[in-house]
Formats: sequence, C-alpha cells, structure tokens
Amino acid sequence: METVVSGIRSTGNLHLGNYFGAVVNYLKMQHEYNCYFFIADYHSLTTHPTPKNLHENVRQILSEYLACGIDSGSATVFLQSDVPEVTELYLLLNMNAYIGELTRTTSFKEKVRKQPDNVNAGLLTYPVLMAADIIIHKATKVPVGKDQEQNLEMTRRFARRFNTLYGVDYFPEPTAFNFGKQLIKIPGLDGSGKMGKSEGNALYLTDKPEVIRKKVMRAVTDSGPTKENQEMSEPVQNLFTIMEVVSSPDTVRHFRDLYNRCEIRYGDLKKQLAEDIIVFTNPIREKVEEIYNDNEYLRKVVRAGAEKARESAAKTIREVREIIGFKPF
Ligand code: TYM
Repeated sequence: METVVSGIRSTGNLHLGNYFGAVVNYLKMQHEYNCYFFIADYHSLTTHPTPKNLHENVRQILSEYLACGIDSGSATVFLQSDVPEVTELYLLLNMNAYIGELTRTTSFKEKVRKQPDNVNAGLLTYPVLMAADIIIHKATKVPVGKDQEQNLEMTRRFARRFNTLYGVDYFPEPTAFNFGKQLIKIPGLDGSGKMGKSEGNALYLTDKPEVIRKKVMRAVTDSGPTKENQEMSEPVQNLFTIMEVVSSPDTVRHFRDLYNRCEIRYGDLKKQLAEDIIVFTNPIREKVEEIYNDNEYLRKVVRAGAEKARESAAKTIREVREIIGFKPF
C-alpha cells in the first residue's frame, strides 16, 4: 500500500483554503492509503509563539482536523514534536542542502518580506524539515495545495541527492497529489492572491455565521460587467472560485448566467455565497468545540499516533544511519 504524509502548521485556525486545498484530499485518501497526518508544531516555531500559545494552537488545529472527519482509527494522526527522529533526519539532510537553493525558494523570500525582523535559520531550512517529515515515512504521495508545489520539488531533490550520494535507491521521490487534478489555490476575499492565515483575507472553518456574512459582504468586487460574456476581473473570478467549492453546480451556473447577461447584482451573489459557506462550516464548527474540550480523547489520539509514527520513523533512521556509515563498535 502506498504511503501518504500530510501536515499543517499549528499557526492560526483552518481556513477554506486549507480545507479545499488539502484536507478534502486527505479525507478521500485516509481509507485507501497508509496515511500519516500530523500537526507541524516544530515548523510553527519559526514565528516564535509563546509556550501557552503553542499548546493552545496545537490543540485547536488538532480539534479542527478531527472535526473535519480525519479518522484517527484508520490514519495515523500525530504531532511532529512527538517524533523527534524527524529532527535527526532534518540534521542529516541539512548537510546536503545548499544555502543558494534555500534562499531562492519563493516561500523563504515571502517570509523575509513578511517578517524582516525575524529571518531565522529555521525559516531558511523550512523545506528541509518538510522533506524530512515526508521521506521519513517513505511517502510517495503528499496531498497539498498549489502553494506547496515548490516545497515538494525540494523534497524530491533532497531524496534524490541522498540516494545519489550514497549510491542507494532508498528514498522514493514523493509527488504533490490531488486525485489526478491540478493542485488547487483557493483565493482570498481581498481581490488577489491566495487565502492565507497571515493575509487577513481568510474565511475560517470556526468563523461564526455573522462573521462570515460580514467578511463576504466586504469582499472586493468591481463595478460590474458592461458587455455580455465579458471576461471576469480577478476579484470577481475569485468569488466564483470559492462558490465552486461550497455551492451547488446549479447555483454557480445561475450566477454565471446572470454575470454573462450583465444582470448580476454582486450583493445577491455574496449573500448566497455567505449562506452556502455557513451551511458548509456550521457542523464542523460545532464539532470543533466538542472535541477541543475532550482532553481524554485528544490525548488518546496523539498517543496512539505518536507510537505508530515513531515506529516507522525509527526504522528509517536506523537504516539511514547504516547507509551513511554510522556503525556500532
Ligand atoms: P500550511 O499550514 O500553510 O497549509 C496546510 C495545507 O493547506 C494548503 N493551503 C491551501 N490550499 C489551497 N489554497 C489555499 N489558499 C491554501 N492555503 C493553504 C497548503 O497547500 C497545505 O497543503 N509547509 C506546510 C506544512 C507541512 C507539510 C509537511 C505539509 C510541514 N511539513 C509535510 C505536507 C507534508 C504548510 O505550511 O502548510
């Protein structure tokens, strides 16, 4: 059975981009593949959370993940920091990761722009830790959104480099995966770019209905089409992209037709979109609260997950140490 690894950083809450870019794929994969789903809490340290925030964020994201329907009975659900073997592989891979290629990655450049006062080495080597997360379980498929494509390319490169350096065929080269379709980018509500935790343009799964209505009604649009079948501007196209994932095909068609006939009223489009998002997120939000307060359940999930993940990771580390030449006397 093929192995799947996927993760999410424990910063902020899950938004629609996370859900439709990644989580929806995990849900389809969890019963068909050998799945490892984890909360990337080591990765979150690049933003320097306080100890209290770190723990609360992990609990929140874990609760949200489970509320979406990740089944800890069939998949291995764990915290990255419960599997310290990953840090050893990270160290070993770092010896063959080059400063030039790391500084050239888009996500690093973006982070430098966003947090110029905190350009730490963890940010630089972020793709190396991510590669370790994935190849430590010898995964072949990684369900992620479009924004992670380059990180996956780096993962393949580090896996290949290890194999070449030691003349082995040990690590598979994993690919970003979305059921034969293109990787997805869910846009934000501010007219351009992707929905993101730190962009202030996100709709969270735990947003209350009144918050969702407010955010959607404030979303950027344009002054409306002036001729039939006019090409859509980016902000309007973005609202349709979100509608395509949360609304019925009939609803999308209805508003597209209105747009094409220049009869659309963006207020009506937004009202419908907000209500469809609420119908989708309401049951998840209610479940999150229940799970968040069930400490016994959360403890059971992460304990069992850590045990299984460590077993797989420890085997890889044993073999990697031998390949590299660390031998017992
Ligand atoms: P993170 O926490 O930023 O996002 C988690 C997942 O959500 C996807 N995503 C999106 N997809 C479509 N449209 C969007 N607007 C959008 N925003 C986020 C991301 O592509 C991702 O799949 N580096 C990872 C965490 C990670 C990881 C890993 C993932 C660490 N190690 C190993 C997979 C395997 C990250 O920051 O994701």
